Amino acid sequence: MSNPLHIDCSAAADDFDASSVAVVPDFISQEEHDLLVAECEPALQKLEYAEDHYDRVITKYREVEYSISRGDWSASACEVFRRIKTSSPLLPPELPLSNQVHVIDIAEDGHIEPHIDNIKFMGGFIIGISLLSSSVMELTKDIPQNENGSAQISAVRLLLPPRSLYVLGGVSRYQYKHAIVPERQRWVDGTQVARGRRLSLIMRPEYTYKPIFSGIYGAL
Ligand code: OGA
Ligand code: MN
Repeated sequence: MSNPLHIDCSAAADDFDASSVAVVPDFISQEEHDLLVAECEPALQKLEYAEDHYDRVITKYREVEYSISRGDWSASACEVFRRIKTSSPLLPPELPLSNQVHVIDIAEDGHIEPHIDNIKFMGGFIIGISLLSSSVMELTKDIPQNENGSAQISAVRLLLPPRSLYVLGGVSRYQYKHAIVPERQRWVDGTQVARGRRLSLIMRPEYTYKPIFSGIYGAL
């Protein structure tokens, strides 16, 4: 199940809904990790790292889409994706997951700036598997100024080691921006999180799947 040691809410607003985010360390085995990396590498190695993306907030990256239904993945990899569908925390049963798996490769000095995934074209959850190296994902939201007028930010950090799974739903998906931070981070236990090259496999529900969620964007 989700491990609170991988979620740092110490800088979060009191009303942050901690049940909208989950991190599961060791979700996949080392063998499964190595298999998924090996299956992504041939397509990734054909691409150069792009400096940035015209409408996105990601630097030093390359990406490919691998379809489950098109047979881009081996039977063993499909088994991992089936397990994500059936055993991830937060996901409702029968969630219509897209057959597309978005593979993102960011270089050691790449990062993803704070953003909210498109609410029209992407569904109500973000499900990610992290590979190769640890990184810190930061969820942030501006909160109304307090009485003495100082701007405040509510921030939650997720520690994403290789082989971990994370899920963002509800306020974490719709109200908070998410980012993979470029800086080296010190985790709450004092350890340094050294960023290296990182791969992520992102799965999303079909864009037509939008849970009834009433947030700053209104009912979706
Ligand atoms: C994205 C994104 C997060 C990750 O591609 O929109 O936020 O874990 N990716 O790679
Ligand atoms: Mn995103």
